[in-house]
Amino acid sequence: MDTIKLKELTYNYKALCPLISDTTLEFHHDKHLASYVEKLNTAIQKEGIGDKTLVEVLASLDTLTPENATAIRNNGGGVFNHNFYFTGMTAATTTQPSKLVEDKITKDFGSIQAFKAAFKAAGMAQFGSGWAWLVQNGDKLEIITTANQDTPIELGLCPILTMDVWEHAYYLDYQNMRDNYIDAYLQLIDWNMVEKRMTVKPDCCSESCCGK
Ligand SMILES: [Fe+2]
Repeated sequence: MDTIKLKELTYNYKALCPLISDTTLEFHHDKHLASYVEKLNTAIQKEGIGDKTLVEVLASLDTLTPENATAIRNNGGGVFNHNFYFTGMTAATTTQPSKLVEDKITKDFGSIQAFKAAFKAAGMAQFGSGWAWLVQNGDKLEIITTANQDTPIELGLCPILTMDVWEHAYYLDYQNMRDNYIDAYLQLIDWNMVEKRMTVKPDCCSESCCGK
């Protein structure tokens, strides 16, 4: 794996205001994600990853040497999860689910509104730091949560959408009111990206999911 670079945001820091402030976005991207990138590069240099991609590494964490496994799991997950999160939001708050997306979500959750309610409930129920995910599991869409920087990839699931519920994602804007942050996040979902991620399967578990 080549040295990981900090992936630039596809929108500016103020683009998600007032739902997510420029201060939150700048700290989240330039400090938190940048730190994961730096620490991941240190860890993969020690490990010697060869030509595996980050997704391939995250799918085979059990093959890592024990002294490097935790650092690669935490920081590799931190890089993947944040890139996936940032590219799943858009400043164009008018994006709506396409017919394809609405049909798929309605099939497994009943309606878009029911999906949003279930996604919010999952985010609220995640104890401590972690993530809520919409994932593809075979023919079915499911909502799961992961703790810390764990990813659905290590579970063999294809991610479609993720919501960061670490406090650093919302504390500057919403303090302890995670529910208000989640309501804001649900207005920022890039439904065009959701469709793109749904339609690239079965190759979904690749860097193409990161909005490239
Ligand atoms: Fe985060």
